[in-house]
Amino acid sequence: MIPNPMSADEVEDLVGHARRRTSKPIGVGFLIPFVVREAVEAAGRTADVVEFFYGDPDPTLVELARRGGAIVDWQVGSASEAVAAVTGGCDFVVVQGVEAGGHIRGNQLLDEILRETLDAVEVPVVAAGGIGTPDRVAQLLAAGADAVRIGTRFVAAEESDAHPRYVEKLIGATRKDTIISGAFRAEWPDAPHRVLKAAVEAAETFEGDVIGNLRGGWEVPRFSSMPPTRHVEGEVLAMAMYAGESVDAVKNVKPAKDIVAELIPQATRSS
Ligand SMILES: Cc1cc2nc3c(=O)[nH]c(=O)nc-3n(C[C@H](O)[C@H](O)[C@H](O)COP(=O)(O)O)c2cc1C
Repeated sequence: MIPNPMSADEVEDLVGHARRRTSKPIGVGFLIPFVVREAVEAAGRTADVVEFFYGDPDPTLVELARRGGAIVDWQVGSASEAVAAVTGGCDFVVVQGVEAGGHIRGNQLLDEILRETLDAVEVPVVAAGGIGTPDRVAQLLAAGADAVRIGTRFVAAEESDAHPRYVEKLIGATRKDTIISGAFRAEWPDAPHRVLKAAVEAAETFEGDVIGNLRGGWEVPRFSSMPPTRHVEGEVLAMAMYAGESVDAVKNVKPAKDIVAELIPQATRSS
């Protein structure tokens, strides 16, 4: 979530790197406030899925990504935004409830926005926000979702680049320890995000403009939108430790494939 827009070459390199490591489909996500059109074109040519988030659906961007052969979706915060995404050419939508970790687009709970969106569009709908258990996955699929999106739980995957102290804090937290805040606004103002309350408090009491350093030398400003990774040093606990209400389900570090296996509802597991 570093709001440092990637160039077309960087996107191509990144997708190429991922291709060498998996034969599965690869997706690239763009945040609208930081979007670079040439990078979207490159993603559409090289990735299987291109996603956009955090801005009004833009048919020209959808077309740019589709031209290269990718399927395209928009993560949305309301049924009306979902309709705009579909009208703009998206193949599917992700509906995000306010339970989600990270930046939050709308102001409705997931169940409500899912219901309204299923009534409003014909394309597949993916449910996101606060999902951490197989029961919740089963509930959402039964309610009509075609798939689910999970974020916070994977921050504690073995493969994750999250800073170990951030992961520790997630393991020790419950949903009551999260808050929707505007605090981590340095590069991305006016964009509410769900984060650990303790991180907001620590950032507010920190004195100074620079809270840490990224390997390579970049100084991390206080209230940076960048979550703490293994590549950062400094006041990690005063950085943007994004966490959804799904943090309740973060109890240990595991390989991503084991997390996926755990989340598959019993009834749909193949032997
Ligand atoms: C650490 C973290 C980083 C995220 N970064 C992005 C991002 O860069 N782009 C994006 O579209 N969504 C991002 N999200 C939001 C997810 O797309 C999704 O809506 C959210 O994780 C779902 O809620 P959950 O975290 O409770 O599973 C991020 C979420 C987290 C927790």
